[in-house]
Amino acid sequence: MQMTSKLRIGLIGAGYWGPNLARNFVEMNDSELVAVADLDQAKLDKMKSRFPKIITTRIYQDLFDLNLDGVVIATPPITHYKFASECIENGLHVMVEKPLVLNSPQGEKLVQLAAQKQRILMVGHTFEYNPAVRYIKEVIDSGELGEVYYIDAVRANLGLFQPNVNAMWDLAPHDISIVLYLLGQEPLSVSSEGGMYVTKKIKQHDVVYMHMRFPEGVLATIRLSWLDPAKTRRITVVGSKKMLIYDDVATTEKVKIYDKGVETPDYVEKYEDFQCSYRYGDITAPHISGEEPLRMECQHFLDCIKYGWQPQSDGESGVRVVRVLEAAEKSLHGSGGQVQVAVPEYARPRAVGAGD
Ligand SMILES: NC(=O)c1ccc[n+]([C@@H]2O[C@H](COP(=O)([O-])OP(=O)(O)OC[C@H]3O[C@@H](n4cnc5c(N)ncnc54)[C@H](O)[C@@H]3O)[C@@H](O)[C@H]2O)c1
Repeated sequence: MQMTSKLRIGLIGAGYWGPNLARNFVEMNDSELVAVADLDQAKLDKMKSRFPKIITTRIYQDLFDLNLDGVVIATPPITHYKFASECIENGLHVMVEKPLVLNSPQGEKLVQLAAQKQRILMVGHTFEYNPAVRYIKEVIDSGELGEVYYIDAVRANLGLFQPNVNAMWDLAPHDISIVLYLLGQEPLSVSSEGGMYVTKKIKQHDVVYMHMRFPEGVLATIRLSWLDPAKTRRITVVGSKKMLIYDDVATTEKVKIYDKGVETPDYVEKYEDFQCSYRYGDITAPHISGEEPLRMECQHFLDCIKYGWQPQSDGESGVRVVRVLEAAEKSLHGSGGQVQVAVPEYARPRAVGAGD
């Protein structure tokens, strides 16, 4: 029997999210969690007691001397660019937690560096690996919902407050990545408005409303809040034929497809001609696989290293999300008006058949 060696993985960041990543790399058959770095010795001690075989260190550069294949970065976003570039410079494949970086020039540099060094650069857009989101993408692409009119997303809870970023940079990467993945498009412009309530003293927004405009008039709205009594993770997709609600907090029937719609007359000359007829059909709740999205994401990182695949959530998709956040941030600190999403020429989708 042929023995295949396990990929040697290191982790930087053992705070709230790091242990979830650690558990997955320990449990998967084709990886070995070799080392964990964190500034906080107490967090390292906790990791060591849970995973006794790992090496722990307070100096992340120690990871460069351990013959690792890849590193996963789960530290505050402000550190992502520095840590990811150093890992790539040291010949390591990298998976960086969301958001990839805090500005698009840094993201573009990181993408270039990874390409130049031929290393995998992946961003932790976990929901792109979520079976429910993948199912919704299939439903949209099959045309079952008809033409997508708009998407409405809510990500709200009480906390967890983050000191270095506002609620938008913390929470919106998930919904922006979901919307871009579902529509297969980037928004033309974004607007956002928000409030600083509990976070007033540190001048960070804890509540933000974002609106994205896509080609063909498609709209996407995202409400983000660290100040809400109920944990809500809900996405509504309204199409010309059917509508869909994805409730990530529900324990069963997370996705429901509503055969509901409105028919309007073909010809409307005056207001009185506009008589709508409403259709109330069946509600279906398809079976959705219960696989852990984070496990699928971590497995994908290993597969990309092993087979040289381009990650589903590659560096470029990380930068696409950052560009939307940058435009939204401009709007948030301005008058709340629409701000164009700056997409450099090289990153614009090319017309089919445009040739090389
Ligand atoms: N994909 C998801 O669903 C998901 C969920 C939660 C958090 N995240 C992301 O994970 C990242 C970490 O978030 P968190 O909530 O775990 O934050 P956290 O503050 O709980 O943990 C961050 C850890 O990084 C350590 N750290 C900071 N600077 C360091 C340095 N120079 N060297 C070594 N360690 C250092 C801190 O000591 C801390 O233990 C963020 O990018 C966040 O957006 C992703």
